[in-house]
Amino acid sequence: MPISDDVILDDLKSAKLVFAASDKTVDCTETDTVLNVAKSNGIVIPSGCTFGVCGTCKVKKKSGQVHMIHNGGISDEDIEDGYILACCSNPVGTVEVDI
Ligand code: FES
Repeated sequence: MPISDDVILDDLKSAKLVFAASDKTVDCTETDTVLNVAKSNGIVIPSGCTFGVCGTCKVKKKSGQVHMIHNGGISDEDIEDGYILACCSNPVGTVEVDI
């Protein structure tokens, strides 16, 4: 298990993103978006608008909770099926995505 040398500031809540298909686990904060964390760790999630409209960045969430504020780019059905828009989803605690 890798030892994290991240400094977590007091006013930021830590979170963790598990990219299951990429076999990568990344420490982040609850203010990061899934898309940005993926990008800065070399994981490609196709994206377009980056504000929750186009739906290009839709990924399947395997477990955990996100805080998602989208602008119509995902259907209620997809949300019920566990999909999220990576560009406008912030991880709450540990979140596992299928990418
Ligand atoms: S990039 Fe358009 S909805 Fe996420």
